[in-house]
Amino acid sequence: MPSPELVILRELLAHGTGFVSGEALASRLGVSRVSVWQHMEKLRAEGFAFEAVRARGYRLTRHPAALHQTLIEASLRGGAKDLPVTLLDEVDSTNDEAARQLAAGRAAPFVILARRQTHGRGRLGRVWHSEANGNLYASFAFRPHLPPGRMQTFTLWMGVSLCELIANFTHHAPALKWPNDLLFDGRKAGGMLTEARIDADEIRDLVFGLGLNVNSPAASWPGDLARRAVSLAERTAAPLDLNRFAAALIGRVLLAYGQFVRGEHTDAFADLWHRYDVLRGQPVALLQAGRRVAGIAVGVDDEGSLLIHPPGGRLQRFHAGDVTLEKHP
Ligand code: BTN
Repeated sequence: MPSPELVILRELLAHGTGFVSGEALASRLGVSRVSVWQHMEKLRAEGFAFEAVRARGYRLTRHPAALHQTLIEASLRGGAKDLPVTLLDEVDSTNDEAARQLAAGRAAPFVILARRQTHGRGRLGRVWHSEANGNLYASFAFRPHLPPGRMQTFTLWMGVSLCELIANFTHHAPALKWPNDLLFDGRKAGGMLTEARIDADEIRDLVFGLGLNVNSPAASWPGDLARRAVSLAERTAAPLDLNRFAAALIGRVLLAYGQFVRGEHTDAFADLWHRYDVLRGQPVALLQAGRRVAGIAVGVDDEGSLLIHPPGGRLQRFHAGDVTLEKHP
C-alpha cells in the first residue's frame, strides 16, 4: 500500500510544472483536503517546497538534494515502478543487509540504499570508502533460479548497462576496467560487487552491489584516494540530481537484470564491452593466485574471461584476477 506522501509526490511529478488540485489529491487518497495539507506539511519539513495557487492547486518547486526514499520511489518508471526501495541512514554493508533480508525470506527483487556504510566492501577483501558524501551505495537483491555457469558475464553486463546509463544521463561516458571498475581518465568512479548463494545446481540468492561516486567533492577523499577516485560531479563540473539519478539507475539495473535472465543480452554484449573497454590493446599485467601474466589485453570472450596475449606466447584467458595497466614498453 503506497504511503500518502508517495501518492502525492507521484501525482506532482507526473504533472511536471503543471498544477494538481487539492481536490484531485484528496480524492486519489480518499482523505479530506485538510489531511492532504497535513501530508504536504510533512514533506515540507523534509525539504520539499510547493507552490499553492488558488483554484489551480499545487506544484512541486523544490525537492531535497540528499537521498530521500519516497522521492526515489515516486521517480521510478516502467518495470521498476513498484520495486521496494529501502534507504538506510547507516549500515555495515548494503550487500550484507540485502543478503540478510534474502536469508530472512524477503520477496525479491528489492533494493537497499544507504547514505553511509561502516564496513563497505570491495572485491578481493578491499575496503570501499563509504562516507555520507553524496555518493551511492546500493545493493540489488534477486532470486534468479539460473545455473551458476550462466552468471559469469553478469557483472560485465551490468557494467556496460551502467556505462550506457551514465553516458545518457551525464553526456560523459565512463570506461570499464575488467571485471568490475568504472573509470574516468584512469580514476575510479564506481565498483561492482556481485555475490551469490548457490544451492545444488541453481543460484538461490544474488546480490548485486554498486558503489558509485556521484556528488562527492574532490576535496572529500582521504589520503591516497584523492589521486585514485573521481565522482561524476567532478567530471560534469556540477552536482547531479541524486534522487533522479538513483531512480534512473534502479530502473536500468532492473532492466539489465531482466535482459540477462531472459538471455536477451548476448547479441549486444560484445559490442558494448568493446565500446567501453579501457584495457583493449593495452599492455596489462594480471595477478592470479600468486602468478603474474603480462601481455596485451585483447578483450573478453563470450564467457566474460579476459583475453591476454603475452609477447611471443599463445592467447590466454582468465576468469578471475587483478589486472593493472602497464606502461607501454
Ligand atoms: C570494488 O570495486 O571492488 C567493488 C566495490 C563495491 C562497493 C559496493 S558499495 C555498495 C555495496 N556494499 C558493499 O559493501 N559493497 C558494495
